[in-house]
Amino acid sequence: MKIVMLGAPGAGKGTQAKMIAKEYGIPHVSTGDIFRANIKEGTELGKEAKSYMDKGELVPDELTVRILLDRVAQDDCKNGYVLDGFPRTIPQAEVLDAELTKLNDAIDFAIDVDVPDENIIRRMSGRRACLKCGATYHIEHIPPKQEGICDACGSELVLRDDDKEETVKNRLDVYHKQTQPLIDFYTKKGVLKSVDGTVDSAEVFSAIKAILG
Ligand code: AP5
Ligand code: MG
Repeated sequence: MKIVMLGAPGAGKGTQAKMIAKEYGIPHVSTGDIFRANIKEGTELGKEAKSYMDKGELVPDELTVRILLDRVAQDDCKNGYVLDGFPRTIPQAEVLDAELTKLNDAIDFAIDVDVPDENIIRRMSGRRACLKCGATYHIEHIPPKQEGICDACGSELVLRDDDKEETVKNRLDVYHKQTQPLIDFYTKKGVLKSVDGTVDSAEVFSAIKAILG
């Protein structure tokens, strides 16, 4: 099963993608997590990605597509995957579509996690992320068992650099201009499904399971 998660920054794509990955036994592939891991390791890729991410801009398509195609060519992706944060532009979606077509394959579901802009800014300022294992929490809605510490791996939780309010506003602008057109792209392919992302994360997941079967 090949799934694409769509939705504004902070809509809960990562939260849901991790639950889907666990339930259906497929890898969770997040371009944002791949970039953040590279930033942490200080790689050239990380340095380049950081210059865009800190401003809330998108990393150029050419670089992002290369990273993503490398990742999904790995063995663990043979039986499917859930993509979180990719594609984010029409050109990215077209490249992915062309690559899958070559393999006589296609995306099965594009799930749009729908959350209005007003809710987003509040969510982001409360998010805490583990830069080691990629787990995310929310200080009110999804708190870790011990404040500031990741339940999964015991590392310190941080506020992401790009979760500052001004940057979040820019990320939302970028989302509306460059990423929202993908809703139309996947609607035309007949695979778009929308879920209400404003409810509790367990309820969002139930709605997604009802779609995936
Ligand atoms: P990326 O890491 O993909 O960030 P994003 O799209 O901005 O999304 P987020 O990770 O911020 O939000 P999310 O939807 O995953 O929400 P989450 O589950 O964490 O990308 C970062 C940057 O990398 C981009 O800005 C860009 O520069 C670059 N990049 C990445 N991919 C790229 C690409 N393909 N092309 C170009 N550039 C790319 O949830 C948010 C918060 O809400 C959390 O605190 C969570 O605990 C909480 N929460 C989740 N669900 C609920 C709920 N139902 N109710 C209440 N709270 C909830
Ligand atoms: Mg995410």
